[in-house]
Amino acid sequence: MNSASFLRPLAFKRTGVTAPNRIALAAMTNQQSLPDGSVSDDEYNWLTRRAEGGFGIVTTCAAHVHPRGRGWPGALGIDSDALLPGLKRLADGIRAHNALALVQIFHGGARAPAELAGLPPLSASAGTLPGDSNGQPAVEATEDDIAEVIAAFAAAARRAEAGGWDGVELHGAHGYLLAQFLSPLSNRRRDRWGGVLDNRMRLLREALAAVKAAVSPRFLIGVRLSPRVFPGQDADVTREVFAVARTLIRDSIDFIHFSLWDFRTTLTEAEGGGNASGATPRLLNLAVESVGGECPLFVAGKIHTPADAAEVTAAGADVAALGRAAIPYPDWPRQAAAGPFNPAHPPYRADNLTAAAVGAPFLDYLRRWPGFVKG
Ligand SMILES: Cc1cc2nc3c(=O)[nH]c(=O)nc-3n(C[C@H](O)[C@H](O)[C@H](O)COP(=O)(O)O)c2cc1C
Repeated sequence: MNSASFLRPLAFKRTGVTAPNRIALAAMTNQQSLPDGSVSDDEYNWLTRRAEGGFGIVTTCAAHVHPRGRGWPGALGIDSDALLPGLKRLADGIRAHNALALVQIFHGGARAPAELAGLPPLSASAGTLPGDSNGQPAVEATEDDIAEVIAAFAAAARRAEAGGWDGVELHGAHGYLLAQFLSPLSNRRRDRWGGVLDNRMRLLREALAAVKAAVSPRFLIGVRLSPRVFPGQDADVTREVFAVARTLIRDSIDFIHFSLWDFRTTLTEAEGGGNASGATPRLLNLAVESVGGECPLFVAGKIHTPADAAEVTAAGADVAALGRAAIPYPDWPRQAAAGPFNPAHPPYRADNLTAAAVGAPFLDYLRRWPGFVKG
């Protein structure tokens, strides 16, 4: 029996809600929703199986808050009350296993394909994103568009609470709409939504405030950020993301989730400066420092083994969020609790993934991740 610290419960102060342990399923797009964005049996089985396997917190894939923010075919929607029955069934299924159920609420911005929305994508500024030169050009969001986005985040959170979810995670990471406003590489506006950091983070803060006003005080509200967003950013831009976290904490937030892609990455590596381990701080340490124990800190990025989870929690993170390791190992937390457990690395056999409640559409999607699936 393992008594690692990540197996202890975690109480969220403001809301009084408690997670049974500190292992979260990170948001993972799986393209298994029905064409109208409603929950399918594949989506239900994928998430409830991880709750059954002992994940203390289960997060949905990025769910679009507005039809114009839909990122993928088969994406989960939370942009209409018509989707509530499926969302409610899913929340009930996750919570039946004692896990906290979170919806990741999101707007794709420039990365929401025009053919899905029937409209050109919106972003902070017109054109393509840095590094996405083959992507579709976005149009600059107007004041009305921005007000609509903020209202859509609030309506999505209200729906999540009405559907029985424990909380929401606003997706401010990975270069989608909220991150497109945050980064000076994608936001070239000169109005109150662009320019200095205070202006670039206004959309995220206003969306957060609107979400808070739309739900009860028991409902968890967190934000996911990533320090590395667009190619070509310098250390100042990377460090800004940690300043954003500090501001959000001052605004009052229930958790911050840093998506690091690899928890061992140093600041220099994040800038493309090669391996300078020891010479510059790890992004993990900067995340811990920025949060300063003021609210629970979730960290994701190549947490594969129980030793990795123990390492990130020993460094000061409160929750180890698992992405890829949770795909072949739905019982990862139970196995970690039971004793020595050494999860294998990819590639994984397709039939084993199917047995782990990975539905056919998700399996097809995973075949596009190099070296993940065999057979
Ligand atoms: C198939 C797949 C889909 C993902 N979809 C999302 C998503 O919808 N939202 C998000 O914030 N991150 C998404 N991510 C990133 C993961 O949440 C996680 O941060 C990342 O995979 C690093 O953690 P890992 O090394 O444990 O996989 C996705 C990752 C994978 C592998």
